[in-house]
Amino acid sequence: MDNTIVSNPRPGVMLITLNRPKSLNALSRALLGEVAAALNRAEADDVIRCVVITGDERSFSAGADIKEMPESDIPKFAESERLRGWKTIERFPKPLVAAVNGYALGGGCELTLLCDIVIAGENARFGTPEIKIGIFPGDGGTQRLPRSIGKTRTMMMVLNGEPIDARTAKEWGLAVEVVATERTVERALDIAASIAEKSPLALRMAKADVLMAFEKPLDESLSLERKMLLWQSKDHREGIAAFAEKRKPSFTGR
Ligand code: CAA
Repeated sequence: MDNTIVSNPRPGVMLITLNRPKSLNALSRALLGEVAAALNRAEADDVIRCVVITGDERSFSAGADIKEMPESDIPKFAESERLRGWKTIERFPKPLVAAVNGYALGGGCELTLLCDIVIAGENARFGTPEIKIGIFPGDGGTQRLPRSIGKTRTMMMVLNGEPIDARTAKEWGLAVEVVATERTVERALDIAASIAEKSPLALRMAKADVLMAFEKPLDESLSLERKMLLWQSKDHREGIAAFAEKRKPSFTGR
């Protein structure tokens, strides 16, 4: 694990720190593989209930590793193990929080789009500069950006390639909060720790339900939501009992 640092700074929370500072945390195959491996461990570990991904103060991630591109042709680049890494992130069922300082460009911006909650530091810059190197966002950006910020803002980012600052990212909905750069990770960890106290089962269902809104027609997703809500869990009974007994619930994920 040379390209990431994985830690457990709060109960129930895994922190994945991208650690290729010399390349501004460019998403090499190896780095993506390590993120995917950490997420697979987080998924299998009942103790981990929420994951935070961050970079460093200068850069969350400057995108796909451009230096890996010429080695292979683009179809091979796009279809290789990189894609498996992206799929793992995309399908990760537990809450994923991004703490973004500095550059979130290209694949780095696309990575934030796969996170459920994005906290931006004041120095954060979100952008899709691929057009400047003769390509366009190919890790989900052309599809997820319009769903997140609408068509014309997406076109502005994708066709022009210039980044937007943290305040604009918040105004457009790419980030939910902007905080002082040195506070970004702490704030993300606080949110993750609070999420980690909730029922893991309800969290998983809530995340799946919200994501359905982007994938399915409304009548289908509404009926699936209703079905999932009717599902009786021990955690639901525990939540109601704890409320009545004026105590903190103790959720088990069943
Ligand atoms: N891939 C590989 N290396 C990268 C990189 C990237 N995406 N971004 C930066 N680096 C490397 C630089 O090559 C440089 O390395 P050296 O010191 O060995 O030369 C180091 O990181 C520091 O970068 P700069 O000296 O360029 O730093 P700067 O502060 O002057 O500029 C920057 C910062 C504006 C982010 C600039 O580095 C830049 O434009 N990077 C490329 C951003 C980009 O185009 N990202 C999209 C990639 S394609 C993609 O993600 C999508 C896809 O769908 C396939």
